[in-house]
Amino acid sequence: MSKPVIGIIMGSQSDLRIMKEAAEILDELDISYELTIVSAHRTPERMVEYANNARSRGLLVIIAGAGGAAHLPGMVASLTSLPVIGVPVKSSNSIDGWDSMLSILQMPAGVPVATVALDGARNAGILAAQIIGTSNKEVSLRLDEFKESLKLKVESAAKKIESEGWKSGL
Ligand code: RP5
Repeated sequence: MSKPVIGIIMGSQSDLRIMKEAAEILDELDISYELTIVSAHRTPERMVEYANNARSRGLLVIIAGAGGAAHLPGMVASLTSLPVIGVPVKSSNSIDGWDSMLSILQMPAGVPVATVALDGARNAGILAAQIIGTSNKEVSLRLDEFKESLKLKVESAAKKIESEGWKSGL
């Protein structure tokens, strides 16, 4: 898979410290993506162009992260019928993270954004991969392996604590 199938966009370069986690998991899962900055408020025309052309450029899912008055995910979702996953970012202009969260979460009927946890870019990447995996066997197999690795990690931590005592887990 060399042509990007997932678009990762964010409102500001300052979101990259969080949004890079979506890129990192997609690298781990070997899924092609593109990543750029698109600001709903500072570059509205760029946002419209990005959303309008996303499908014809071959993207299948968009991950959009923003903080504070986080309008990017919702506005992109209003412009395309591709699935949009929103990442609320606890940015420097966010009061406490709830502003980012609610701006992305509380979409009106008909225009959904799949909102992950605050700063949950890694989960956004996994969810995007799972959407790709619904029609791509290789990706779904890699995701099965990934889930298995999560299970093994917990089981091995549990075994260590059970056999060596809880202090060994600190
Ligand atoms: C939002 O404002 C961006 O998504 C970012 O989370 C926040 C702060 O942006 P900067 O002032 O750091 O560029 O639109």
